[in-house]
Amino acid sequence: MNHDHIISAKQLSRADIEAVLDRAAEFAADPSAWGDRHENALLGLLFFEPSTRTKMSFTAAIKRLGGDVVDMGTVESSSVKKGESLADTVRVVEGYADALVLRHPSEGSAKMASEFVDAPLINGGDGAGQHPTQTLLDLYTIRENAGFEDLTIGIMGDLKYGRTVHSLAHALTNVDARQHFVSPESLRLPRSVRYDLHEEGASIREHTELDTVLSELDVLYVTRIQRERFPDESEYRAVAGEYQIDTETLEAAKDDLTVMHPLPRVDEIAHDIDGTDHARYFQQAHNGVPVRMALLDILLGGDR
Ligand code: NCD
Repeated sequence: MNHDHIISAKQLSRADIEAVLDRAAEFAADPSAWGDRHENALLGLLFFEPSTRTKMSFTAAIKRLGGDVVDMGTVESSSVKKGESLADTVRVVEGYADALVLRHPSEGSAKMASEFVDAPLINGGDGAGQHPTQTLLDLYTIRENAGFEDLTIGIMGDLKYGRTVHSLAHALTNVDARQHFVSPESLRLPRSVRYDLHEEGASIREHTELDTVLSELDVLYVTRIQRERFPDESEYRAVAGEYQIDTETLEAAKDDLTVMHPLPRVDEIAHDIDGTDHARYFQQAHNGVPVRMALLDILLGGDR
């Protein structure tokens, strides 16, 4: 893999993806065995939006590799509060760390910030744009459970604002998956994403009802309605609570359907699914550690 920064899933080739997932599988076999691999490496965390999984699993990943984090903390407690620009912030933090992870509410912010630094910058989510490391752990989970061969996947929920969806769709094109997008009309995939997917030769279909396609799916990827990105709360309320699944919904699904969700969930997946063999979303979240270990290892020069 030969990338200075990880900004978008679009930049990842099939070979890049396989390289990260294969390395992740090695780390996953015994995550605690790699403490001398990147001793003293420092990862700078710049989170301008809330995060549990991305931030904690990056922290766990660098610590498992023998390194540590330097964390900007909350926007409220940083100099961003005094009006410091993102460009200045990343230029400063680059001097404190060997690689950076940025999460920011503005689409395009990671790309912009990466132009100011030499250290590898990883996009941990830029507004409704991209979330490439989530995509890598999603792919790891898909490969583990359903495999990439002859894969049919349904992606349901907020396809308009969901950055995990925008990222994943590009990567799935690389593994030749058949993709079915299920959402209310108002939350369809953005035109620009559809356009890019067509250009890449993706196999995509759009639906407003899950039951038209459920029985064909190997994987169902459910997402949260991204309330914080709606310009108007009444628009959110108009779609909130739609597209929920429970064990009854899944009666029409294949027995070995894999149900995924980037989490956090609100009410999209009923708790009665948690105990079934379909539920893979907690395993998916756990896969964030070995997958981020693998990506950091490669970016920090661990290639053998
Ligand atoms: C996602 C995100 O931040 O885009 N969370 C995550 O990183 N797992 C999904 C979401 O917030 O709905």
